[in-house]
Amino acid sequence: MLDKRPKTKILVDGGDPEETLRVKKLIGIVDGQTTNPSLIAKNPEIRQRVASGHSLSAQEEKQAYREIVETISPLVGDAGVSIEVFADMDTTAEDMLRQGEEMFSWIPNAYVKYPSTREGLRAAQMSVAKNMRVNMTLCFSQDQAAAVYAATKGTKEPAYVSPFVGRLDDHGENGMDVIRWIKKMYQKGDGHVHVLAASIRSVNHLLAAFAAGTDLVTVPAKVLLEWSAKGFPMPDEAFHYKAVDGAGKPLREIPYKELNLDLPWQSFDIVHELTNAGIQKFVADYRATLKRSA
Ligand code: E4P
Repeated sequence: MLDKRPKTKILVDGGDPEETLRVKKLIGIVDGQTTNPSLIAKNPEIRQRVASGHSLSAQEEKQAYREIVETISPLVGDAGVSIEVFADMDTTAEDMLRQGEEMFSWIPNAYVKYPSTREGLRAAQMSVAKNMRVNMTLCFSQDQAAAVYAATKGTKEPAYVSPFVGRLDDHGENGMDVIRWIKKMYQKGDGHVHVLAASIRSVNHLLAAFAAGTDLVTVPAKVLLEWSAKGFPMPDEAFHYKAVDGAGKPLREIPYKELNLDLPWQSFDIVHELTNAGIQKFVADYRATLKRSA
């Protein structure tokens, strides 16, 4: 069991309540949970249904997603459960908001996940005006995080922004730079957006997220179990994050950008190829669980 909790809140990145429970028993705490369409498609019951030829209708998929988050909801602390709306490249903000309002009503500690795109940001702006909690996902740049800040001003409870470390690393860039630069940029702000480090692939990423002082980090159970097996190491003063890929090759640095958080969100350069690729992957994983006719 973890005896001294880090300042950073720890969330489980997954779609299986059994797994969340296992992590909770092992570590002693789970502050929250993040889910996404790919993780829900990997839920053991959904996988089994699909493998046995019983694909789901869109309605059944939604009901299954609801049951999963309803089971996880009481297991976690105050960082809540993030539930992601279905969005492809054509989904409008109004459609995302409609889904978000429904998902927000499923459990008392829901955060609605919207993509960090133009339509996602519009949906977030409308959501916070309705006192909904939001988690802006598929964030890969400081510009997107600046737009999240501007779009969610006035939110009653902190909004989350989820920069994807591992996917930037996969792309040859140092994903931890984006975390550090967003934290630095937000120092000039009012604190209404909390940084949730996502796409964490290793204990090294986890320690770097702690060292960078992220507000929250969402971690696959596998990495948390590895952290536990190592005796819950924490980064000390001498901790140095080595930004290298799987082959030991250094990752490209991402430079800091001076951005003015007082500008309207529409003025930031929010388009990122990895956001679009991420949307397409979520859509494909979601569709793979559905009946062909659905
Ligand atoms: C969580 O909110 C994200 O959806 C998740 O961390 C993505 O992780 P991946 O890049 O390993 O799929």
